Amino acid sequence: MNMPSNDIVTVDLGDRSYDIYVGADLLQQAGELIANAVPGARMAIITDNNVGPLHLETLTSSLDRKRIDWISIEVPAGEKTKCFDQFNQVVEQVLAARLERGDAIVALGGGVVGDLAGFVAGVIRRGMKFIQIPTSLLAQVDSSVGGKTGINSPHGKNLIGVFHQPELVLADTTVLNTLSQREFRAGYAEVAKYGLIDRPDFFDWLESNWPEIEAGGPARAEAIAESCRAKAAVVAADEREHGCRALLNLGHTFGHALEAATKYDGSRLVHGEGVAIGMVLAYKFSNRLNLAGAEAAERVVRHLKTVGLPTSISEIPGDIPPAETLLEYIAQDKKVTRGELNFILTKGIGRSFIADNVPTSQVLSFLKEEHPS
Ligand SMILES: NC(=O)c1ccc[n+]([C@@H]2O[C@H](COP(=O)([O-])OP(=O)(O)OC[C@H]3O[C@@H](n4cnc5c(N)ncnc54)[C@H](O)[C@@H]3O)[C@@H](O)[C@H]2O)c1
Ligand SMILES: [Zn+2]
Repeated sequence: MNMPSNDIVTVDLGDRSYDIYVGADLLQQAGELIANAVPGARMAIITDNNVGPLHLETLTSSLDRKRIDWISIEVPAGEKTKCFDQFNQVVEQVLAARLERGDAIVALGGGVVGDLAGFVAGVIRRGMKFIQIPTSLLAQVDSSVGGKTGINSPHGKNLIGVFHQPELVLADTTVLNTLSQREFRAGYAEVAKYGLIDRPDFFDWLESNWPEIEAGGPARAEAIAESCRAKAAVVAADEREHGCRALLNLGHTFGHALEAATKYDGSRLVHGEGVAIGMVLAYKFSNRLNLAGAEAAERVVRHLKTVGLPTSISEIPGDIPPAETLLEYIAQDKKVTRGELNFILTKGIGRSFIADNVPTSQVLSFLKEEHPS
């Protein structure tokens, strides 16, 4: 594949367009890049208690060199932080510091921090400036791009939120060196997803370059930039998910059901692992429906196994509820339109499409076959 050397990806949304910088040691240059994007603004940096101790000082030193005023707010790491209680605490601290509409909320962390901070930015004073500095691979290739923000409800994940696009995204590939191997691999599932949606050439390239991507060579930055380009194109075409943006949910209908089935217990299954299994299931299910050949699913399994990701329900530790319950979770998922099951299916590697109206009986019999019991 012919990779452009450019490391700036533009998300084209008219007067709300913004740039994603991808490269090594961007945190050290953040002050300058931020001063250019939001001149004169003060910053409230939201981070979590894993990322803060590792990377906050690099960021704040860079802001200090540019004489940018900042405060920092640390939240507990983990999905539970995406709740009204944390939201309220962060909002009150930002207001107490008297930040104005033209000032900026900076998210320094993974997708949890990005989603919470983005929601805070979206609603304080009817919308403050927002800057994403994603520090997990998942956040760099997925959650920091596209403007979806929000928190969870006991009724489900991400049910409360707003669309609020950032002014700037800085994806520093060096900060990923402190990410655990498990989280890195889980984030990689979303990278592979872009190949499996509609970029068979990218999937070929990933199969050859995975070792270098994991090791942190130039292929890592290329894989991240290419993923951002893929997501940016979809977001520019369908910002609010009325149509093709749904393709980004490949593997997620099954994956979300598995996350619900494990009660979002990250020690058993993290999101990207659920997506990895979910993509395999989407490819296998497409084969079962005679849409794709068996070799496509086999190739997906082979690559994800090489990466060290789970590829079947049986690899999830602990008991999994029966197929009927998994189907209920699928039906509760937000990708259901007026009671009909809406799936991302495929005709082969990189040939995914949106299928409406998939009969629940077929989903159920497929889940029974795939169920470990
Ligand atoms: N808004 C969107 O479009 C979108 C898209 C996909 C996912 N999401 C959301 O993103 C969240 C998942 O994101 P995530 O996987 O980044 O989870 P996360 O934010 O919980 O990060 C995973 C773990 O890695 C730690 N971490 C992050 N960066 C680190 C670093 N550089 N060094 C050491 N530790 C680091 C975090 O503290 C956390 O413990 C979910 O809540 C999901 O709903 C949102
Ligand atoms: Zn995902």
